[in-house]
Amino acid sequence: MSVHLELRDLARDIATEAGELARRRRAEGVRIAASKSTLADIVTEADREVEALIRARLEKDRPGDGFLGEESDPAPGESGITWVVDPIDGTVNYAAGMPSYAVSIAAVRGGHTFEAWEALAGVVNAPALGEMFEAARGEGSRVVSAAGTVPLRVTSEFPAGALIGTGFGYDSATHADDIRTVQSVMPLARDVRRIGAAAVDLSYVAAGRLDAFFERGLNPWDLAAGALIVEEAGGSVVELPADRFGRRMTIAGHADLVARIAERV
Ligand code: IPD
Ligand code: CA
Repeated sequence: MSVHLELRDLARDIATEAGELARRRRAEGVRIAASKSTLADIVTEADREVEALIRARLEKDRPGDGFLGEESDPAPGESGITWVVDPIDGTVNYAAGMPSYAVSIAAVRGGHTFEAWEALAGVVNAPALGEMFEAARGEGSRVVSAAGTVPLRVTSEFPAGALIGTGFGYDSATHADDIRTVQSVMPLARDVRRIGAAAVDLSYVAAGRLDAFFERGLNPWDLAAGALIVEEAGGSVVELPADRFGRRMTIAGHADLVARIAERV
């Protein structure tokens, strides 16, 4: 078995366990937390606990690798491989009781940004949706669910206009610019979606459910696994130079559509 497949299979095993923990904590937390601040605290605890589980598993199975996660300090490794981890992508959905949240785990080689690394393997486990999206470099991408295992392919034709996902950062100062960007892209769209979890958005692009996705200001852990899943499904992922708030634009989809969106943002 290739190293990339081995990394993917390990990521899948760990993401399965992590997803079960997130789901369990969600079921407990929703009863406990009645107000927003309490809810946020509980979710923060769940995020940290899930990341700690993932980190401990990786330290045991891959002791020489580096780690870059959303909720704990980065650690350099000696092997040249770094695990880029978002324990819960879609935290607001998770806190609000909506199912579009995911554990995202990727193994990359090189730097700690999308442009500086080469992703080797990635999984996006959406436990409340019952779907595990996964990819290994050179091996394609697929979704595993109770319905079976299905290879993924991005769409290449959009006769009625493209169904396009997007996202907005948490800083309200950036919202007006983001709304203007959506307005500029709208002529290409049949409709837009704001799912609330970039890892799920990217997986949906790979699955041909969304034709494209764009968002400014994503973090490495939001996109590391999802971007590889798109690329291995025949799609393209690009990052454009930063805006006045220092946020790079990520665009994913079929290469032709990505280019048309890039002209407008
Ligand atoms: C966020 C989600 C959201 C996106 C934000 C991300 P988090 O990640 O992916 O959809 O709009 O930019 O930061 O905070 O839920 O892990
Ligand atoms: Ca997160």
